[in-house]
Amino acid sequence: MDGSLVLFGYWLQNRSFALAIAGSDWAYPFVQATHFTGLSLWVGTNVVVDLSLLGVGKKSSTSLQLSDALFMWNWIGFGIAVTGGFLLFSVSAETYLTNIAFVIKLGLLIPLGLALHIVIQQKAPVWEKASEPPPMAKVAGFTELLLWLCVATAAVLIPYVG
Ligand code: HEM
Repeated sequence: MDGSLVLFGYWLQNRSFALAIAGSDWAYPFVQATHFTGLSLWVGTNVVVDLSLLGVGKKSSTSLQLSDALFMWNWIGFGIAVTGGFLLFSVSAETYLTNIAFVIKLGLLIPLGLALHIVIQQKAPVWEKASEPPPMAKVAGFTELLLWLCVATAAVLIPYVG
């Protein structure tokens, strides 16, 4: 691993907030719960819009209407998930930076998922104009679902790989 990343990890895990979380009986589970609360909001609101793009469920609201209605909760969820994730990371930053599942999750899958998510939010008004969602909308919705599933899988694998 790059020496400057090791130094950064060492520096981060020795910050007072990281030491406080590591040294407390309740803080780590609390931060974990925060990460999961944010994830539930973020992934849950994404799944609603992606399934709608795939044509699953009632047609009473369009994908654009759902995306607009959930927009604020969607990004609040992301903010909470990133804050909780960063705090979890800070407790053992050096170890996480050498964990292949963590590196793939944070360095590849999350940036890809986020980029596609922003494209979907920007393209939704264009797709809305067609009478039926175009094939590209379905591909984008399906790929986003798959990417968040891969992010969650990589996260679950973190304790099992080096
Ligand atoms: C927004 C998309 C994200 C998703 C879907 C996600 C998903 C998950 C899941 C499902 C777990 C639980 C793993 C388990 O306990 O079995 C987890 C844990 C964790 N996440 Fe995230 N996460 C996301 C973002 C982040 C970010 C941005 C960071 C860091 C800045 C992060 C850092 C962590 C850490 C350090 C753990 C604890 C891993 C362990 O030691 O078991 N996550 N994440």
